[in-house]
Amino acid sequence: MSAADFRAWSAAQLARVEQALSDWVPQGAPAGLGEAMRYAVLDGGKRLRPLLALAAADAVDGHAEAALRAACAAELIHAYSLVHDDMPCMDNDVLRRGKPTVHVQYGEARALLAGDALQALAFELLTPSADRVPAAMQGDLCRALAQAAGANGMAGGQAIDLASVGKPLTEPELRAMHALKTGALLQGSVRMGAACAARPLPGGVRQALDDYGAAIGLAFQVVDDMLDVTADAAQLGKTPGKDAAADKPTYVSLLGLESSRALADQLCAQAHAALDASGLARVHYLRALADMVVHRKS
Ligand code: IPE
Ligand code: IPE
Ligand code: MG
Ligand code: MG
Ligand code: MG
Repeated sequence: MSAADFRAWSAAQLARVEQALSDWVPQGAPAGLGEAMRYAVLDGGKRLRPLLALAAADAVDGHAEAALRAACAAELIHAYSLVHDDMPCMDNDVLRRGKPTVHVQYGEARALLAGDALQALAFELLTPSADRVPAAMQGDLCRALAQAAGANGMAGGQAIDLASVGKPLTEPELRAMHALKTGALLQGSVRMGAACAARPLPGGVRQALDDYGAAIGLAFQVVDDMLDVTADAAQLGKTPGKDAAADKPTYVSLLGLESSRALADQLCAQAHAALDASGLARVHYLRALADMVVHRKS
């Protein structure tokens, strides 16, 4: 597959996801809640989690509507996590996706509620009537997303992150934190795409896709830590330099930039190897997404 093929596929998927999110995130929720939800979700973001879910679904010839719902549900959980991550009680950030953060724009109470409502909406999207998506598939998708978002996934990782301010973590501790706070939802997005397969996948295929998800999940946060040091606000759409200012343990603080880059490249190679081991024929979009995670500039 050429770079142009990937660009065309990803542009088409991004347009579908954008339209679906705009259709599904309600305008009319009471007392300005809908406006804050739409502000948090629409017009911004790389949409990496949706692309991962759709690429994994493509690799297993998955159910098309289920895959689009899974893609959007992952993005809604991600958007909610960003709204809460930026609040004064967590990272206290004022810029996100090139705009004032949700609590700056609408106040803390509405930001908190917008996050809550986005999380609920994610699960609503995964549970349409059974004539649209088979009931068993809905159950698998909900379980995968709940596990990725919850106490043993993103939320647990965020708790470790906040408890680690000012503490130098060992590499295994930092790896475990990153695997949860960021890796779990990226891996979960791949898992959800795979769960759209018409028939249960062989254990070896599931394991290989999980290995791919774990490698890109960690690589993603290693690169996020690097960009916090190397990129500027215009590139990032968020304020750089916050990790050092807040005394957060990161891969850059632990290993330095050069070794962090080497680790990201090594994880990219691991992700590619996992795809080779999957035995799946159509993994080219997943392969290109691994490259994108590691070489991104924003
Ligand atoms: C940023 O995620 C937050 C982390 C999980 C590190 P992204 O870099 O995917 O943010 P958007 O969605 O493109 O804004
Ligand atoms: C956030 O990690 C991970 C989430 C679960 C949202 P960061 O705090 O490093 O994300 P940024 O740098 O603010 O986007
Ligand atoms: Mg944070
Ligand atoms: Mg943050
Ligand atoms: Mg960061």
